[in-house]
Amino acid sequence: MDHSTYVLITGASGGIGYELAKIFAVHKHNLILVARSEKKLLQIKEELEKKHDVSIVVMPKDLSANNSVTELFSEIKHHGMEVHILVNNAGFGDYGHFLDADLMKLQNMIELNIRALMQMTYLFAGEMRKKGYGKILNVASVAGFTAMPYFAVYAATKAFVLSFSQAIDEELEGTGISVVALCPGPVSTGFERAANMTYSKTMMLGAYSPLQIAKSGYRALMKGKSVQYGGWTVGMVNIVSRLLPRKWMRKIVKKVLQHE
Ligand SMILES: NC(=O)c1ccc[n+]([C@@H]2O[C@H](COP(=O)([O-])OP(=O)(O)OC[C@H]3O[C@@H](n4cnc5c(N)ncnc54)[C@H](OP(=O)(O)O)[C@@H]3O)[C@@H](O)[C@H]2O)c1
Repeated sequence: MDHSTYVLITGASGGIGYELAKIFAVHKHNLILVARSEKKLLQIKEELEKKHDVSIVVMPKDLSANNSVTELFSEIKHHGMEVHILVNNAGFGDYGHFLDADLMKLQNMIELNIRALMQMTYLFAGEMRKKGYGKILNVASVAGFTAMPYFAVYAATKAFVLSFSQAIDEELEGTGISVVALCPGPVSTGFERAANMTYSKTMMLGAYSPLQIAKSGYRALMKGKSVQYGGWTVGMVNIVSRLLPRKWMRKIVKKVLQHE
């Protein structure tokens, strides 16, 4: 592996991002790890460098903050590091009635799930285009398939990620850059706590572990697929959400999520 090329993973301090970091390290990729908690990132750096003989750079950032993405991009360029694989994984949700939510939290969600992901893609894909090679994995969600009462803003952010990723994957055809949207269903990670919810047993039926989701994302990225569902249950939800009228879908989702 070229020592100046790196896989950049956002949200690498836990959950799906951490599992992706482990998989890339096993495959001998150098890593740039981004999240807010520097302590956790440093522990992961120590663990993975020892086990896999790769170079890991830790860049603690709050990506919902203004200018954080441009700062990150400048620091990476300044150090002469080249990002040939970008994983936009950092994101969070917020469960509950829209009007009872904390407005600042909802705004930060849009900053992280949408604005930061779009900016990261713009800046790093721009560099990839100059080299004629690059891969991007954007973590969307089953929540992006349909309107979701009680997850209204989160589902809308993931609909953005899914639509945006598919559109630019098409635009970038022939440039050597591919973009995958990974759509997991419920996965047991720090997500539930951040979203103020606990998945019910029904929701977790047929659910996958963060490791399984990370593996399927990695495989899809390597194959250059456009969309990867987090298992057959998510594939089924996608089909059903296309067949049923949108009005019915939102009623069904409301019933399911009311009891979370
Ligand atoms: N778990 C699920 O059920 C599920 C289902 C579908 C899709 N997803 C998506 O999967 C992705 C990963 O989530 P997860 O399930 O692995 O949840 P998680 O365990 O809560 O991980 C979220 C990661 O994002 C980082 N992060 C959060 N806010 C950040 C910020 N402002 N700036 C930088 N990093 C930030 C967190 O680290 P710090 O706290 O250290 O910043 C953490 O590393 C998200 O995009 C989520 O929407 C999850």
